[in-house]
Amino acid sequence: MEKYAIPKIGHPLLDAEHETMLGFAGLCTISCPHLESRQDCDGCIDGKPEQCRDGLHNILGHVLPYIQQHFEEEESLMKQAILNVKDPMHMPVHLSTHNRLLQQFRAVAAELNKASTGNYMVRKTRQLHDLITHELLDHIYQADEKLIPHMVK
Ligand SMILES: [Fe+2]
Ligand SMILES: [Fe+2]
Repeated sequence: MEKYAIPKIGHPLLDAEHETMLGFAGLCTISCPHLESRQDCDGCIDGKPEQCRDGLHNILGHVLPYIQQHFEEEESLMKQAILNVKDPMHMPVHLSTHNRLLQQFRAVAAELNKASTGNYMVRKTRQLHDLITHELLDHIYQADEKLIPHMVK
């Protein structure tokens, strides 16, 4: 399922963190091997949806703090470089995208906390996987890449 190219924006620290974040998508496919083939957990092995729920909790427990810390580091680097950034709207737009992304990740965690073990763990796991491989990846390509000419390495 992981067919995307890992973006390299040319900043060693941020590149390493982006790679780690995108690697969390691989944990989703390991936790549930049916992300592409199933709409729900009906007919899955007995006890597996409960395992998937614990797995998803576990992954979110790593993903959320990591992404939050990455955004904080990136924003701090951006603030140091802001005088050099030509587009005055870059900073506020970039920060609001970070906030939106964090809210989306937190929403997955909140829904999971509310849910009793159901037959939709495959959907929740796919939701987290797609957040990483679509929304977060798009952000790296569309916004993070623009920072690099201005950043201190
Ligand atoms: Fe960013
Ligand atoms: Fe980033």
